[in-house]
Amino acid sequence: MHNLENLPLDLSALNQPVTLAYIAASILFILACSGLSRHESAVKGNIAGMVGMAFACAAAIVLVLAGEPAHGVLVTAVLIALAIGLGGAIGIYRALHVEMTGMPQLIAIFNGLVGLAAVLVGYNSYLHPDVSSASLGSFHYGEVFLSVFVGAVTFTGSIVAGLKLQGRIPGRPILLPARNWLNLVALIVCLVLAVLFVEHGDFSLAAWACLVLMTVIALTLGIHLVIAIGGGDMPVVVSIMNSYSGWASAFTGFLVDNDLLIITGAIVGSSGAYLSYLMCEAMNRSFLNVLLGGFGTDASTAHVHGGEEEGEIREVDTSTVADLLLGSKRVVITPGYGMAVAQAQYPVAALVEDLEARGITVTFGIHPVAGRLPGHMNVLLAEAKVPYDIVLEMDEVNDDFGEVDVVLVIGANDTVNPAAGEPGSPIAGMPVLKVWDAKRVIVFKRSMATGYAGVQNPLFFRENTSMLFGDAKDSVEAIDRAVETVAPLRG
Ligand code: TAP
Repeated sequence: MHNLENLPLDLSALNQPVTLAYIAASILFILACSGLSRHESAVKGNIAGMVGMAFACAAAIVLVLAGEPAHGVLVTAVLIALAIGLGGAIGIYRALHVEMTGMPQLIAIFNGLVGLAAVLVGYNSYLHPDVSSASLGSFHYGEVFLSVFVGAVTFTGSIVAGLKLQGRIPGRPILLPARNWLNLVALIVCLVLAVLFVEHGDFSLAAWACLVLMTVIALTLGIHLVIAIGGGDMPVVVSIMNSYSGWASAFTGFLVDNDLLIITGAIVGSSGAYLSYLMCEAMNRSFLNVLLGGFGTDASTAHVHGGEEEGEIREVDTSTVADLLLGSKRVVITPGYGMAVAQAQYPVAALVEDLEARGITVTFGIHPVAGRLPGHMNVLLAEAKVPYDIVLEMDEVNDDFGEVDVVLVIGANDTVNPAAGEPGSPIAGMPVLKVWDAKRVIVFKRSMATGYAGVQNPLFFRENTSMLFGDAKDSVEAIDRAVETVAPLRG
């Protein structure tokens, strides 16, 4: 725990309550992670995280106020209250106004702020080390250097990822010649600077030069690393940056001698890394493939042109789809990013209820990377109060499509693309929902545009596929109205 014995005042009376608060917060953070892993327990997980954070903040504030605040208790208390008030107000405002489709960029910006905090705390800890840090000598300089480096890369990398996702800067990869060599040279220079910084240590001009030069290189490296990655891969980049922000926090924890920050940073760092790994698995890609360029790069899309026609398409209208559904026994819905864009989850939930009331079995098949966030579809469906037990994972439905009468592909594209089975396709090897095995497939989208990976979808040209063009929300609402008109419920 915070090294209370080393603080100037005798704070031993606080030792126990602060230690207990930190242990409680650590346990609550772990419970939050486990709660968030299942949609049934996600709300409880969130609450556990919030309570844990409240404990952590309260204990940290008590420590600061009791431990000889730099500007006196009152001024420090006012400064802390101001920081919490301002940060809390911005956080609440953003949380209330963000669209589900805007979540990745919000997370990117938050990660960036964690990176910035690590840089600032790093500089502050170099200038004003606390008693215990100062006694560590060179080791402390190493901590400062690492914290500032990881924080700076995370800061600019996350900001670029957020701007790409927001469409403020072009999503296409911007590639400098010999970019991988540039990255390597930057890393080697930073390594040399680290050795010099630790050697020179104490506030010499040379030490300052090393620290400042490394900060500039790390900030540039963050921009260069992320600007070279296609906008399509930004969700994975955001997850990787989330992991970096966790490690940056853990290093900051060493700097300010706070075990809770080390624990929390390590949890965020490792869970972010694991999440990135799971995303890559679900797309059948490696970390390296994402970081060194993949979807959306010229190399990967040169032979695949988004709008190219591959045969004849069959269009269908909403009343025909309603008749088809009413004549079915088993229906599966595979939603994708378009359902989030259209905010169609509420009419989809209403349609499911109406079909089930008419004796038709409806389940959902959720691809692990449908949408733009892990669990994106599950969150939307939970929001619309769709019962959890009919929301199935891809592996639970994929072998059963042969027995399904109608599949409604609502705003999904890559996740139902049979091209994934063709060697040479940019999405070759990506596990997909085999919707084409069903008797009929209805694809809800607005145009023949490609999905996230920029790859044409042969599903649209299959004989058992019909296209229902239009906004998914409008289409689902129209189908539901037709179902209620054609087959009204008695009583
Ligand atoms: P996508 O392949 O992105 O396709 C979404 C489709 O929705 C588009 O083809 C679009 O066609 C349609 N659409 C958009 N707005 C619509 C609206 N208002 N009404 C109806 N349709 C609309 O989606 P997916 O199948 O969910 O695949 C997700 C992709 O994201 C995968 O390639 C995956 O690898 C990638 N990805 C996901 C994640 C996570 S964690 N989820 C992370 C990284 C990458 P129109 O424009 O013609 O309407």
